[in-house]
Amino acid sequence: LQTLPPAQLAHKYFELFPDQKDPLWQNPCDDKRHRDIWSKEKTCDRLPKFLVIGPQKTGTTALCLFLIMHPSILSNSPSPKSFEEVQYMDFFPVPSNVTTDFLFEKSANYFHSEEAPKRAASLVPKAKIITILIDPSDRAYSWYQHQRSHEDPAALKFSFYEVISAGPNAPWELRTLQKRCLVPGWYASHIERWLVYFPPFQLLIIDGQQLRTAPAMVMDEVQKFLGVSPHYNYSEALTFDSHKGFWCQLLEEGKTKCLGKSKGRKYPPMDSDSRAFLSGYYRDHNVELSKLLHRLGQPLPSWLRQELQKVR
Ligand code: A3P
Repeated sequence: LQTLPPAQLAHKYFELFPDQKDPLWQNPCDDKRHRDIWSKEKTCDRLPKFLVIGPQKTGTTALCLFLIMHPSILSNSPSPKSFEEVQYMDFFPVPSNVTTDFLFEKSANYFHSEEAPKRAASLVPKAKIITILIDPSDRAYSWYQHQRSHEDPAALKFSFYEVISAGPNAPWELRTLQKRCLVPGWYASHIERWLVYFPPFQLLIIDGQQLRTAPAMVMDEVQKFLGVSPHYNYSEALTFDSHKGFWCQLLEEGKTKCLGKSKGRKYPPMDSDSRAFLSGYYRDHNVELSKLLHRLGQPLPSWLRQELQKVR
């Protein structure tokens, strides 16, 4: 039997199994041997029961605001490093009642991540997955406006049309911004990747337009999907704030709690050239999405029906 010193042995091991360089974490509590030696101080119930995976700019923060209004739903604590999002299933509060509380994590970048579905399925295979879709063209525009208000130099330098229509020889910073702006909108491809690792019944696809205009109805659907109790009456708990122009949480004495200025920003409508360009750009992706929703037995959101009716 031959062996090597530890460091060389490790090199050899990763030469033989290169795909294991990137560790895939599983839940230690799933293994009885681990459970037996698990510290009494630690709970096995700190991993999320569901994930809100994005994509960015579809209403994920509004959904979270509404979710945490529910008495049995708890979210991850905000991370100082990644602003509101954890970006890795960490920083979870100790649930007050481990058997009934629904912990969740929202990270809007998981949606289009190559790695996230596999990692999530390894750590929390039973977790439910929630995604929100709006017209990918509107999502791209909202994302561009978001980058501008965060003073991204490329977003400030180039117009929206220049970003979305940049060709292969465009400067690197423009191409990078373009990719980040457009790729999350390839909805069908990203959802298919989640479906490799999670069965369809664990996935909820929310129509972001409905979440925006009729949130109480959507929240009923979400509660049913999660199987959370008690049933929370969102029709009474939410109110349309005409000043904000969005639905908000109704507080005592008729006051409201809305999302901050960075959600529901004021910016000019998208120009018609960009709209036409993006309709063409996303057409095949939208056709694929309609086939996917059909296969899953889900209704088509109205924006998707409208896009499919447009002639090439
Ligand atoms: P805009 O700021 O471009 O209008 P996310 O939280 O995923 O980044 O999404 C932000 C988007 O959520 C906002 O984009 C806004 O249109 C939408 N939204 C939906 N419901 C909302 C609500 N009740 N309050 C604020 N924004 C809401």
